[in-house]
Amino acid sequence: MEKPEFLAYVVIFLLALLFYILRREKREPKHRAKLPPGSLGWPYIGETLQLYSQDPNVFFAAKQKRYGEIFKTHILGCPCVMLASPEAARFVLVTQAHLFKPTYPKSKERLMGPSALFFHQGDYHNRLRKLVQGSLSPEAIRNLVADIEALAVSALDSWAGGCVINTFHEMKKFSFEVGILAIFGRLEAHYREELKKNYCIVDRGYNSFPTNIPGTPYKKALSARKRLSKILSELIGERKEKRLADKDLLGSLLNSKDEKGETLTNDQIADNIIGVLFAAQDTTASVMTWILKYLHDDPKLLEAVKAEQKAINKSNEEGNRPLTWSQTRNMPVTHKVILESLRMASIISFTFREAVADVEFKGEIKT
Ligand code: HEM
Repeated sequence: MEKPEFLAYVVIFLLALLFYILRREKREPKHRAKLPPGSLGWPYIGETLQLYSQDPNVFFAAKQKRYGEIFKTHILGCPCVMLASPEAARFVLVTQAHLFKPTYPKSKERLMGPSALFFHQGDYHNRLRKLVQGSLSPEAIRNLVADIEALAVSALDSWAGGCVINTFHEMKKFSFEVGILAIFGRLEAHYREELKKNYCIVDRGYNSFPTNIPGTPYKKALSARKRLSKILSELIGERKEKRLADKDLLGSLLNSKDEKGETLTNDQIADNIIGVLFAAQDTTASVMTWILKYLHDDPKLLEAVKAEQKAINKSNEEGNRPLTWSQTRNMPVTHKVILESLRMASIISFTFREAVADVEFKGEIKT
């Protein structure tokens, strides 16, 4: 459970990049901004080496203990301010959201692909967001229930031998399979395997030290990302030839036209497919892991959920008939457990924003 632990450690870390503040400081030395406490480390590399030479939890916790909930640092090529409180999260994401734009360190953007919607704003972002949301709408998911159930049953069967499993890793495998189903529909096994193999390498490199030195996890991830582009380009080519108006995400991306009638390029489609897999896999796996933990900690609740599920299974002739959409809509206890788990667990514990104007928060950051 290393990732959920890492994610859950801090309530919220918000990384607001202060390029503007720092640049302005240089331009206007007389009006020096008061930056929060902390250290910018070495020139260029900042504190990136410290971050990667230890558990990231320890790095952030030590800083928080020393400087409080607002501190500056310099990691992954970005001079930044880290904010670690619900109040700060509200400030950056809600009340003053117009002063920030979504951004990611370049090393992470290279792995996901620059055309993924996370790195964009405006019309392109809106268009992609609608397409992604559509592929997860009830209308789209409704037709996938039986296939998702089959994936769940197959995962359960694979744990039946009594061996010890890592819950989070197993949940990641399951959510990856569901992601592939939602994106491509039923995909040939060899494509699924190739996508899985290479995506795992990208995933492993994502939080590693970004360097082009051969043999490092980051460099391996970059190579795997190139292979993913090639596989996706083949899949896009095949789907274009078939000219099917499929309702899955790939179909929606292929059929989308902007107001000028322009379609998306293969790279734009590929970057957004990788982006969706990235957004969906760890988050979903993390929630499912927390749900299992909470149920394990509350035997009465576990029994109530089991009873609800067993009754449905019985009415489906012990699993001989597939689960239906309306049955998934009628699981009141299970549904409440999911909602409460989402409320209690910190699934996304940090995110990145870049300040588009000078920002002052609690008098700590001034320009
Ligand atoms: C319980 C599971 C999930 C949680 C808690 C979650 C949470 C979040 C949060 C907090 C953000 C905003 C991040 C930011 O603004 O920096 C986000 C963005 C996003 N998520 Fe999820 N997510 C979950 C599952 C998924 C799934 C299954 C998908 C699959 C498509 C997905 C796709 C996205 C996308 C595409 C964005 C970017 C939206 C944009 O830029 O407008 N998420 N998610």
